[in-house]
Amino acid sequence: MGMAFPQSRPRRLRSSSAMRDLVAEVQLSTKDLVAPLFVREGITEAQPISSLEGVMQHTLASLRNEVKQLADLGVPAVILFGVPAKKDEVGSGAFDPNGIVQVALEQLQEDVGDRMVLMADLCVDEYTSHGHCGVLDKNGDVDNDKTLEIYCKAALAQARAGAHVVAPSGMMDGQVGAIRHALDTAGFNNVAIMAYSAKYASGLYGPFRDAVDVQIADGGNRKGYQQDWRNARESMREVLADIEQGADIVMIKPALSYLDVISSVRARVDVPIAAYHVSGEYAMIKAAAANDWIDHDTVALEQLTAVKRAGADIILTYFARWFAENNR
Ligand code: PBG
Repeated sequence: MGMAFPQSRPRRLRSSSAMRDLVAEVQLSTKDLVAPLFVREGITEAQPISSLEGVMQHTLASLRNEVKQLADLGVPAVILFGVPAKKDEVGSGAFDPNGIVQVALEQLQEDVGDRMVLMADLCVDEYTSHGHCGVLDKNGDVDNDKTLEIYCKAALAQARAGAHVVAPSGMMDGQVGAIRHALDTAGFNNVAIMAYSAKYASGLYGPFRDAVDVQIADGGNRKGYQQDWRNARESMREVLADIEQGADIVMIKPALSYLDVISSVRARVDVPIAAYHVSGEYAMIKAAAANDWIDHDTVALEQLTAVKRAGADIILTYFARWFAENNR
C-alpha cells in the first residue's frame, strides 16, 4: 500500500511560515542593498523622474536628507550619480573638484561619515555632451586609453571628496588597473574599487538615462564597449581581468537577465559579487503593478531574492528604501 506513495515528501518542510523560514536557503536583508541616488546641479527642488516612480533627482539638500534616512533605516551603502548643469566633450564635471558628485560626497562625509559606505559611479556619460562613456577620437569612436586618463582624474576627485568606493562603469579595457594605480600613487590605498565587470549593452537602462538626462548622440549605442548579450563566457574573462587588476568587488549588470552569469561567476571567484537590478527592471515591476497585472511587493521580493540566490552578495536596487521600510 505505502509503496504507491512517495517516500520523500518535500511538502513537510512547507507546512508553515515558521517552517519555511527555518529551511530557507537564502534570506534577503537590508544589509545586502545599495541605494542608487541621483543628485542634480542647479535645481532648488527635488524633481521626480517619470519613468522611475519614487526615485528623485535630488538637490544637495534633499540628497543629504535622503541619505540620513537611509542610514537610519539600516541601508549600508549608497551609490551616487551626478547630473551636471553643463556638459562638455570630455565630461569635465566628472573630475572637477566642484563637480556635483564631489560636492555631494564632501557633504555626506560630514553627515554620515563611516556609518555608511559612500560609493561613486565612475563614468563620464552623465557629463559628456555626446552621452558616451568616454572621449571620442576623430572618427567618433570612444578612445579607450584617452578615456582611462579621464577616469583616473575622476577617481582622484571622488577619493579626495570622500568616496569609500569608486565604481567604474564605462567598460573601458584596463580601467580597473589604471584607476588602482592612480589611487595608490596618490595615497588612496584604502579606497576600494567596485568594478562594473560584466556590463551588458542592455535595453534596460532607459529610465536611468531619463534620470541623468543622457541621450547618446546620433541615435548611437554602447555596443562598442558594453558586452553583447549573446555572450556569457566572455563575462568570466572580464571578471578575472578586473580581479587581476585590483577590483575588490565585481559587478554583473543588469541582474535578472544575467542570473546565469552571476551563478557561474559565483562558482569561480571568491571576491564579493554585486549585481545591479537596473532601472528598466524596476520600472517593469512598477508599470505592471500599476496596472494590477502583478503584485508589486511579491514580485519585487521574488526578483531581489532570485538575484541573491544566484550568488550576488550585494544588490544595487531602487527598491532599497522600500525593502528597508517594509521587510527588515
Ligand atoms: C553609466 C551607467 C549606466 C547605468 C549605471 N551606470 C547607464 C548606461 O550604461 O547607459 C544604468 C543603471 C540603470 O539602468 O539603473 N554611467
